[in-house]
Amino acid sequence: MTYRIAVITSSPNKDGLTAACGKAIEKGALEAGATVDLIDLNPYNIGRCKACGTGYGACRTEHRCQVIDDFQNLHERLVAADAYAVVTPVYWGDLSESAKAFLDRVRRCEATSGEASKLSGKPCIGVAAAGGRGGGTITCLLNMQQWFNHVRSEIFDLITVTRKSRAYKLLAMEAAAKAMVEYIREKAEQ
Ligand SMILES: Cc1cc2nc3c(=O)[nH]c(=O)nc-3n(C[C@H](O)[C@H](O)[C@H](O)COP(=O)(O)O)c2cc1C
Repeated sequence: MTYRIAVITSSPNKDGLTAACGKAIEKGALEAGATVDLIDLNPYNIGRCKACGTGYGACRTEHRCQVIDDFQNLHERLVAADAYAVVTPVYWGDLSESAKAFLDRVRRCEATSGEASKLSGKPCIGVAAAGGRGGGTITCLLNMQQWFNHVRSEIFDLITVTRKSRAYKLLAMEAAAKAMVEYIREKAEQ
């Protein structure tokens, strides 16, 4: 059985730290025998949640977003994965705007399903990629952790990285991705 891992990145820098983290996770997952769907959110047209109606739209009852853009296809690619990773640059101690726009809308569709969330029980890795001093990585991961909990995914690891820790943290991400694939394989065999 081949497992599918979605790796979401969300930085405009094609050769930046976020992209390097995405590639490290991809490498680890491939080495463990998984297939990888690497999704760079930035080129896509993903509008913000419009808080339809008086706060909820079709997300509440039908678990789909009624704002039609690139979101629908990306949402499908994410839920098609057996496990996934979210890698974001740290902006203002938080996730990037492209990550927030996408994840806000996924949360509305999935958290409203409770245990039936299509991301429920899926192992995931969160990475906060920051500048030199790394201030704000913890608050960024805290927000990501909350999001993972809202959609009921199973946090496999949460990793901070800065330019200073880049070399050894990339190795850790590769190892984490490998371990996550082995974990889902072992779980399936039980
Ligand atoms: C708008 C903006 C806000 C940022 N805020 C923070 C921050 O709060 N903490 C931090 O350590 N770095 C911050 N940075 C730096 C980025 O996190 C850092 O450059 C990161 O490596 C960017 O990833 P990239 O190389 O993939 O673009 C900020 C950068 C931008 C553009």
